Amino acid sequence: MISPMAVCALRAVAVLWLCAGGAEARSYVAAVYEHRVVLNARPAERLSRSAALRHMQQNLDVFEEQVTAAAKQGAQIIVFPEDAIHGFNFSRESVAGYLQTVPDPAAVRWSPCSDPSRFPNTEVLHRLSCMARDSALFVVANLPDRQPCDAGSDRRCPPDGRYQFNTDVVFSDNGTIVARYHKHNLYFEAAFDAPAEPELVTFHTPFAGRFGVFTCFDILFAEPALALVEARGVRQLVYPTAWMNQLPLLAAVQFQRSFSYAAGVTLLAANVRSAALGMTGSGIFTPWQALYHHDTRGETGKLLVATVPVLDPDAAGGTGGGPLPLPFSGYPEPEFCLREGGECEGGGGAFPEAPAVPSSTFAAEMMYDNFTMALLEGSAGNVTVCDGALCCHLLFRRSGAADEPYALAAFQGLHVVHGTYALEVCALVRCAGPAPSGCGGEVDHAHTLMDFWLAGTFSTRHVFPGVLGSGVQPDRPDRSGWEGRHFSMSRAGMRAGLLTAVLYGRAYDRDHG
Ligand SMILES: *[C@@H]1O[C@H](CO)[C@@H](O)[C@H](O)[C@H]1NC(C)=O
Ligand SMILES: *[C@@H]1O[C@H](CO)[C@@H](O)[C@H](O)[C@H]1NC(C)=O
Ligand SMILES: *[C@@H]1O[C@H](CO)[C@@H](O)[C@H](O)[C@H]1NC(C)=O
Ligand SMILES: *[C@@H]1O[C@H](CO)[C@@H](O)[C@H](O)[C@H]1NC(C)=O
Repeated sequence: MISPMAVCALRAVAVLWLCAGGAEARSYVAAVYEHRVVLNARPAERLSRSAALRHMQQNLDVFEEQVTAAAKQGAQIIVFPEDAIHGFNFSRESVAGYLQTVPDPAAVRWSPCSDPSRFPNTEVLHRLSCMARDSALFVVANLPDRQPCDAGSDRRCPPDGRYQFNTDVVFSDNGTIVARYHKHNLYFEAAFDAPAEPELVTFHTPFAGRFGVFTCFDILFAEPALALVEARGVRQLVYPTAWMNQLPLLAAVQFQRSFSYAAGVTLLAANVRSAALGMTGSGIFTPWQALYHHDTRGETGKLLVATVPVLDPDAAGGTGGGPLPLPFSGYPEPEFCLREGGECEGGGGAFPEAPAVPSSTFAAEMMYDNFTMALLEGSAGNVTVCDGALCCHLLFRRSGAADEPYALAAFQGLHVVHGTYALEVCALVRCAGPAPSGCGGEVDHAHTLMDFWLAGTFSTRHVFPGVLGSGVQPDRPDRSGWEGRHFSMSRAGMRAGLLTAVLYGRAYDRDHG
């Protein structure tokens, strides 16, 4: 039933480009900065414009240092996190001093650094624009934007006569504003309005072609994230976020890794660092490789810089390789390597034949959803768990710690806590405490080495495979894809203990019941 597993070890970036389709493939240098935000300690109180500016300048001072440092390492684009200039927890009224109006770059061509007095109250845009121009790189930042509206002609216009948006702004390497994106999927942000329609925003760079933009929680939804990738064919994304880690399924780097792999895109993800809020986890992810940062101990910022291949088909160059097929989910990497002479090694091997023994299942809550679970018994096995029409199958072989319980977990249905979205999930999780009550809880280390094949009978095409190692180290499957009615993935030979292996299916079309 299971084919021998081939583990492809891509050890050098040069091999990566060969694998990605053509010796002439182009590359560029990207940077993301995980920022420890200087916060306003009393976000509920309204500040004057000058006090709000004094506060924001403290964060912009750090941005300026990091832009300079990134440019010294050759970066052509840098991404800063969501909320990283102003902070969190404002009300609609208390954020007022922080607002500025970002003109629509499709209507107005403007470099704030070159022409600072063209629009009033745009000191923050001015400073970011000058950073981009002075260091000659693209800068992506997030800030609060105010857009006036007329309650007479626009029935959605709030009574105070303005929209307030959580906004990403992109500056070109000469300081010109080239993109503005208003966050669509807000996450309990009392200060902000969602735009009437989701905005599909892209911008063009001379070094890598087209990039798309979205923010934080957007990554879980069809619009704009999936629409950019599937309808617009965007293959490179900038992603400011302020993401609270939630194990076992949604740590920041865990889902960033899965999204990039499953959708076949490069994701430049910049998160906030805050111990109090459980925020860390940034990275530069290509479908094949990742440079990431997840640090729950330090309270400092972190600059990541990496050379990555150009994935935009119109800009990738090369000798007639043409655009790569758009994956959902994951590239068939071993085949690429075999053909292109990359380094592949055998790993794993077939699992011993064993009929699935009817396991006793139990219900357990994991991340506010009612999963059906079964414990893994013995050092190898064959387990099946179903929830409704979704059946999850697991073959496993483990070694290492005998005292770490694991469960196979299945859930299909509507997730309704902290956001509403339809899921189909098969997950192999390390239980956080004694089973069964400890299964589904948060734990960030494991010693058990696990080879596995995990599959499910998904009804959605949109399955995000993820493998997470001890210490919240994102890994990825050796292979994944459809086998008849099943979507499956396999992984063998990990060096770290397994925290979570998950097939995170998003049934986008069922989000609204
Ligand atoms: C924001 O509010 C949440 C919940 O009300 C609280 O836990 C958190 O500490 C607050 N954060 C800041 C930065 O004020
Ligand atoms: C500034 O950058 C924009 C966007 O890349 C470009 O269209 C424009 O030509 C540049 N302007 C100058 C003066 O170089
Ligand atoms: C796992 O169990 C199922 C059901 O008994 C069986 O069809 C399948 O062949 C088994 N797989 C292996 C590798 O033993
Ligand atoms: C969770 O699922 C179990 C088994 O399907 C069921 O008995 C239980 O009532 C459910 N609990 C909740 C809170 O939905």
